[in-house]
Amino acid sequence: MSKIVLPESLEGKTVVLAGAAGFVPSTLAEKYLNLGARVIGLDNFITGSKSNIEILSKYENFDFHECNIYESLPDFKGLDIDYVFSLASPASPIDFSTLPLEIMRVNSEGTLKLLELTKEKGARFLEASTSEVYGDPEVHPQTEDYVGHVNPIGPRACYDESKRYAEALTTSFAKKYNVDTRIVRIFNTYGPRMRPDDGRVIPNFINQAMKNEDITIYGDGGQTRSFCFVTDLCEAIHTVMHSDDSSPFNIGNPDEYTIKECAEFIIKVLGSSSKLTYLPLPKDDPRRRRPDITKIQSVSDYKPVVGFEEGLKKTAEYFKTL
Ligand SMILES: NC(=O)c1ccc[n+]([C@@H]2O[C@H](COP(=O)([O-])OP(=O)(O)OC[C@H]3O[C@@H](n4cnc5c(N)ncnc54)[C@H](O)[C@@H]3O)[C@@H](O)[C@H]2O)c1
Repeated sequence: MSKIVLPESLEGKTVVLAGAAGFVPSTLAEKYLNLGARVIGLDNFITGSKSNIEILSKYENFDFHECNIYESLPDFKGLDIDYVFSLASPASPIDFSTLPLEIMRVNSEGTLKLLELTKEKGARFLEASTSEVYGDPEVHPQTEDYVGHVNPIGPRACYDESKRYAEALTTSFAKKYNVDTRIVRIFNTYGPRMRPDDGRVIPNFINQAMKNEDITIYGDGGQTRSFCFVTDLCEAIHTVMHSDDSSPFNIGNPDEYTIKECAEFIIKVLGSSSKLTYLPLPKDDPRRRRPDITKIQSVSDYKPVVGFEEGLKKTAEYFKTL
């Protein structure tokens, strides 16, 4: 396979980006705006934030349509579209219990609408899948050929199974209609623009540490995670969009920490006096999570560049501004 060559400019290209008001998608939108592309953002604000759209609206090459993508897309008649990004989905564990049907519908019916648009326009499509397709993995670290260990009726099933469906749908469009598709499996990502109350480990720990409150660890803290800073993640998404391979790519940062190490590190970096407390581990919480990113690195120079300490400081600075 040939090495991926990234374009220096995307001037003249048009991008449709579903989920533009969200944490990862708004960061990706800004990257594409800075590369000169015209970006058309779509969002219904179910978990996204209007302030992210205000930031993007400062760019004259940004347009926005408020819409629920599984109900209907805007009328793009007469418009050439080059890239379609499917990033609209609630993604935090808190959303799994409050928004299960919205999650399943956006990843199935929403993805279908975006794929139909891609087919009609002869564009290239990228599905933002997730490491959750591996479920509670029996192999470690996870390579792309591992098919997963998912509980179809567990508390995370609405997300895991609908993302698996989105991958199957994307692959079927590529096979049946020759649509140009890409799939990324995103591992845990953190950084500015995360919701402070979204229930994910980094915002939880940072907010507890900033208030010098006890840091709550679920289980014994021996479970592992790998955390990728959001700008590194967006560089990986951009890289895969410009690859010539329609099979899935793991993307993330392979540096692996136990949850306890992570809490202790956050306390140290933020100079907090928080102590650790322990609660029972939720059902189906994966024990280990680390991406094997050999595949993307074999076809590109991609490498995460933001260290954990620097990324945590930037995230904490963002939370202080809220
Ligand atoms: N953040 C991570 O660690 C992570 C990990 C794996 C996969 N992902 C995937 O990346 C994408 C972005 O995740 P995020 O963490 O930035 O989440 P986010 O909730 O911040 O962003 C998702 C955006 O999609 C919008 N949205 C949801 N349903 C919609 C609908 N029906 N119509 C229009 N807009 C809708 C939300 O309002 C939100 O702005 C998601 O597809 C998620 O599954 C993220």
